[in-house]
Parts: sequence; structure tokens; C-alpha cells
Amino acid sequence: MKVDGIPYRTIWPAADDPGVVEIIDQRHLPHRFVIERLASVNEVAIAIREMHVRGAGLIGATAGWGMYLAAREAADVAGLRAFGDQLKATRPTAVNLAWAVDRQLAVLEPIVGQQARVEAARELAMTIADEDAECCRRLGQHGLELIREIAARKGGKPVNVLTHCNAGWLAFVDHGSATGPIYAAFEAGIPIHVWVDETRPRNQGARLTAWELGQHGVPHTIIADNTGGHLMQHGLVDLVIVGADRVTYTGFAANKIGTYLKALAAADNGVPFYVALPSSTFDWTMQDGIREIPIEQRGNEEVKYMDGVTADGRIEEVLVTPPGSPAANYGFDVTPPRLITGLITERGIIRPADEKTILAAFPEKRS
Ligand code: MRU
Repeated sequence: MKVDGIPYRTIWPAADDPGVVEIIDQRHLPHRFVIERLASVNEVAIAIREMHVRGAGLIGATAGWGMYLAAREAADVAGLRAFGDQLKATRPTAVNLAWAVDRQLAVLEPIVGQQARVEAARELAMTIADEDAECCRRLGQHGLELIREIAARKGGKPVNVLTHCNAGWLAFVDHGSATGPIYAAFEAGIPIHVWVDETRPRNQGARLTAWELGQHGVPHTIIADNTGGHLMQHGLVDLVIVGADRVTYTGFAANKIGTYLKALAAADNGVPFYVALPSSTFDWTMQDGIREIPIEQRGNEEVKYMDGVTADGRIEEVLVTPPGSPAANYGFDVTPPRLITGLITERGIIRPADEKTILAAFPEKRS
């Protein structure tokens, strides 16, 4: 997608140094566009843990590139596995992280010789990133049909889509999952408007989704997190599309905290609620998402402090709570399949979001 008219991905190998991977450091958005150079597994681990990169698909792609740097640093397979464990420990909820590390290890472990492992790891890191972008492009085309159907009923009025957090191109390598159908509809000339949940405490909606939609020229409005239910009651939301950090093969979807409340409001108001994901976000082992999916708890400073740009252009952090009040920071919640209208994937729309229909779309996962 474009930034100031120039096409970017969110991660790429540096052109001037084979030992460096470049990322957009998302901590500085929307106020500054900063590219960071990562030159070691340790720097990759910090970038994932401290959310320089974030979002399920991008975390997976970054782990893929992290394993390439691991192959350069580790003289043997035991060392590689240790780096894989270090990367896997950075964040617990997005399944793409372990998926990418394990996919690299499965290819690299049988290879004899460090140089051969480095070459294979580089190729696979590139493949993981390319696949992520392509899956999002394809799921966008499937989601486009949903938006097209709604647009046909609205006689030229904009289709109002509500989204939560950032499941945009910044959360993947390109296109995005929740935004894939939105960008596809925008490109197809369908009038569209996006309600962007601010998404406390890290404000990924207000900071990132709003920024990337704005860069692409997609009409949008930022709303406080509690607004969606009211909008739905008044017919101002045609469709909810959210992303996911992990979806069980039984249809439970973990996504940024607050998603479940949007699903409840959507069900109460008859608004279709879709979860968009590339198949790398499926967890083919977990059955009961509410009991089994690990929910990351982050530091309470993310709840207590907010940062932003001052009138004279400085970025400042301010305390918004009583200094002594404790705060809790659950990163994700799980929406059960009964509240999900369908899953938008690169293989098509899976409706209903249940085990039978999911496994019919991915028959190779039946075992
Ligand atoms: O904590 P984050 O920013 O990494 O959260 C992940 C997300 O961006 C959201 O949960 C998103 O909706 C799904 S990830 C594509």
C-alpha cells in the first residue's frame, strides 16, 4: 500500500546489507514515519515484544525473517531451535508467530551446513511474507462480494463498515485482513465509509487504521470504543469486519480486547459480523477458544498513560489516571462462533463459522 504515494510493505530485506531486515516502526505512527533496521535475532525479538511491529500476519512474517537472521547467527541446529524459542516467547496470542518459526525449523533442521541453511531460510522468509500479502489480497476479493451485495441494496449510499483495532496492511505484509475487502471495494469504486474504533489502550484504530485509510483516501471516522452499539441501533453500520490473532478450527476468534462486545452488539442488532483472516491464523489444535487461547496481559502503563503530539510538534506522554490506581491490561478477547456470521479467508467465505464448514474449506487439515 502507499505512503505519501510511494508503495511500501511493512517488512523487507535491506538492499544494502544481507544481515539486515527493515521494518516500519509502528510506535511512531501516525505522527512520524520511521524505518528501523533489525540486524540480530535479539533486535527482532525486541521489535515484536515492544510492538515496533504488531498484528498477527506481520508478527508471523517478522518471525520468518527473524529465523533467517537466526540461521546467520547459529552455527548449528540446536542454536537455531534456541533462537526459535526466544522468538516464540515474545508474544503469546497471535498463532502466526509459532507457525512461522515452526515452518522455518521444519525446513532448516534437516539441512546440513550453515550456509545452506541461511540460503533456505532467506527464501522461506520471503515466501512467508509473499504468501501473507497474497492471502490478504485474495480474501479481500472474497470480502468485496459481500460489500458489493450490500452496496446494491443501498442505491449509491456509502456502505458503512465498522472495524476494531488495526487489521490493516500495517498488521500484515500488505493489504490487510479486515481492510482487504475495504480496499478492494474502494478500488472497485463502491462508495464506502469506515467507522474506526479507537481501540484503547494502545489506540491501534485511532493511530494506525485511521492513518493507513487516510493515506489511501478511504473515507473514515474515528469513534470512541463505546460508540459502536449506538451506531448499530440507529442503522448506521451495515457490516462489521474485524481481524483475528488466532481462530480455532471450531470457529472461536481471538482478537483485540473489545471485539467480543462489538459481536454482541452486532448480534443484538442483526448486523453481519465477519472475521477476516489468512489461513496462517487458524489454530488447528485448539478446540475451546475461551478456555485454551492464551490471552496476553501487557503492562498497566499502557492503560494509565497516553502519548500524542503537542501543539509545538513534540511527542509527549501524559498520565490519565490517579497515579496510585492499579490498572489491568488484557490484550485480547475471544468471540464464540455463534456470534460470527462468517470467516473471510483466502479460500472464500466460510459460513457458518463452525468446525464442519471450516474443515470442509481446509480438508487437508482434517487429520
Ligand atoms: O496487540 P496487537 O496490535 O498486535 O493486536 C493485534 C491486532 O492488531 C488486532 O487484534 C487485529 O485486529 C488482529 S491482528 C491482524
